[in-house]
Amino acid sequence: MTPFPFEIDSFADTLLDWQKQQGRHDLPWQQDPTPYRVLVSEIMLQQTQVATVIPYFERWMNAYPSVQDLAAAEEDDVMALWQGLGYYSRARNLRKAAQYIVHECGGSFPTDVEGMLEIPGVGRYTAGAIVSFAYNKRGPIVDGNVKRFFCRVFGIEGVPGTSATDKLLWSYSERLTPTQDNRAFAQGLLDMGATICKPKNPTCEQCPFNKVCIANQTNRVSELPTPKPKKTVPTKPGHYLWIEQDGKLLLEKRAKDGIWGALWCLPQIHIDPAHLEKQTITKGTFKHTFTHYKLDATVWQISNLGQQATNQQWFSKEEWQDLGLPTPIRKFLQKHG
Ligand code: ADE
Repeated sequence: MTPFPFEIDSFADTLLDWQKQQGRHDLPWQQDPTPYRVLVSEIMLQQTQVATVIPYFERWMNAYPSVQDLAAAEEDDVMALWQGLGYYSRARNLRKAAQYIVHECGGSFPTDVEGMLEIPGVGRYTAGAIVSFAYNKRGPIVDGNVKRFFCRVFGIEGVPGTSATDKLLWSYSERLTPTQDNRAFAQGLLDMGATICKPKNPTCEQCPFNKVCIANQTNRVSELPTPKPKKTVPTKPGHYLWIEQDGKLLLEKRAKDGIWGALWCLPQIHIDPAHLEKQTITKGTFKHTFTHYKLDATVWQISNLGQQATNQQWFSKEEWQDLGLPTPIRKFLQKHG
């Protein structure tokens, strides 16, 4: 194993001193950091920026102040509250996690990392974060911020996200995480990545590690972490229907798995549009970028539907405004509805 450029304890001491003086202390989930509040915030923060998450977090805690409230909530209401945050499986998993805590754990969260990993949707990062932030106990974490920071400080050249490099990054976190002051230590790791060791324009002159940082010392801050090779994502066409009757619009609830799972959407058709009747008119188009592909959507206006499916319902504008809708669908409905 690569030797550290300093004593392991001095890494934690330096980070803790810095976090206490320069780190963030006023994020909403840092107040009253119960395991439930930490779980919700960490799931929200997984793919979403702090500034976007804050109002969602506040609304969520008002709607579901306890894990019991979330476990008892209707899936549709949970999805509606999440709408706009994207990656909707996170909302479904949070509700499942709450049901697991209430029904399998007597309403109390596990007390260690191993136990946390049994919660549906909770991986190694989230487990470590809950143990660190809620219990102030040892729970090593590695997320995108930590990966960038470690790659630079320790001069790690592998591509984060590949299994060998992630394994190495986790072993660094395991070795560096102290046995005390874990709340400030974990927050310090995240704060370093978010406020100093940023992806672009890092402020190395303010960094307490700049004298030992291998990237800084060898002028490779802009080269580390090594970027992933750019993958070109395919574009896929998608076809949706616009069917209005008596001032109401037909929507369908999507299957739980797959894109936009459990959200309401315009009915999707899987036929070649060449098979639509010639006079079918286009209501409009929209595009959306997913992780793995780009959706190039066409919405076809038709006057009536042969047979209404069980997952389809008619909604007035007042009604659909309160539904959990994917953001591009909501924008399309607002423009055309
Ligand atoms: N990103 C992920 N978790 C975070 C946290 N607890 N505080 C700030 N940013 C974060």
